[in-house]
Amino acid sequence: MLETLPETVKVFEVGPRDGLQNEPAQVPAGQKVLLIESLAAAGLRNIEITSFVSPKWIPQLADGLEVARALKLPPDVVTSALVPNMKGFESARQSGVKEIALFLSATESHSRKNINKGIDEALATLSEVAAAAKAERFLVRAYVSVVFVCPYEGRVDPDKVLRLLPPLLEMGVDEISLGDTVGGATPRQVIRLLKLASGQVGLSKLALHFHDTYGMAMANVVAGLDAGVTTFDASIGGLGGCPYAPGASGNLATEDLIYFLHESGIKTGVDMDKLVECGELAQRIVGKKLTGRYLQACLSARERKTQAKAESRG
Ligand code: HMG
Ligand code: MG
Repeated sequence: MLETLPETVKVFEVGPRDGLQNEPAQVPAGQKVLLIESLAAAGLRNIEITSFVSPKWIPQLADGLEVARALKLPPDVVTSALVPNMKGFESARQSGVKEIALFLSATESHSRKNINKGIDEALATLSEVAAAAKAERFLVRAYVSVVFVCPYEGRVDPDKVLRLLPPLLEMGVDEISLGDTVGGATPRQVIRLLKLASGQVGLSKLALHFHDTYGMAMANVVAGLDAGVTTFDASIGGLGGCPYAPGASGNLATEDLIYFLHESGIKTGVDMDKLVECGELAQRIVGKKLTGRYLQACLSARERKTQAKAESRG
């Protein structure tokens, strides 16, 4: 395992969207802007900044346009936003994001709970959005959710995922992120799905999106990396979840992922110390301790150091 490793990996930061969409607290727009700008200053170059969905469904991100317009970012940062339909695309156009992220579910039940539409109807809508976005030279990412386990239907047959890849590719999407929405996958399932999917789509076009509900996210990354995937989604501090996937916890923490990648000799362009500061900031703005292990280890070490200094001063 891990005998051949890529030189670089793309880390796709989803904290400001996937993380904050699931927070009970309404985070003020200014703090979201500060978090996103700090993530970019730490070296992240792909950041999902918000979603343009119905504010009735996701009130936490109702200020997406305000946030997007206030951002001051280096020109090489690719900002992305989740878009479910043409109305969302219209907001994306006004926001200045460079990429839109479409999303659909591998199961009918999750699709209906998440977007109030069945899969076929969703595909028709997304195809219209993708055509409009491509015509205006947006990058287009697409998520397939619940690819391993569905909170309503249980274990998901890989065929349900595979049948969605050709229509997404026909739409011309640039990247497909396979989502373990409830965090129930294990490495053997990841390897199996990637083997099957790679018959239809090059691995360089695939991303993996793990939630860490059962503590399997890092193990699943290792499986994905070993299989040849080089793009992984993660969320600062492990913020997150999906409001329409009961029981799903946060994404894999960005710091944990990057620590593992750097220690494996893989470059990401991210500065770990600055990333820890972002984790601290994320904790402050949601007002609670986050689950990221690297972050907590660093913060405890720092606390012990401060205590020791104070004691030595007498
Ligand atoms: P609907 O109620 O069926 O839609 O919702 P509708 O077309 O009947 O419209 C109802 C109202 O919403 C109307 O307003 C529309 O204008 C408005 P009203 O006339 O009642 O005042 N509306 C919108 N407003 C703003 N932006 C829009 C928009 N569209 C309609 N884009 C809809 C359908 C898709 C809009 C709704 O179900 C929705 O917003 N769902 C989003 C759910 C969501 O964001 N889920 C979380 C993201 S997915 C995820 O987290 C998984 C992922 O992380 C990967 C993984 O983990 O696997 C990506
Ligand atoms: Mg997610």
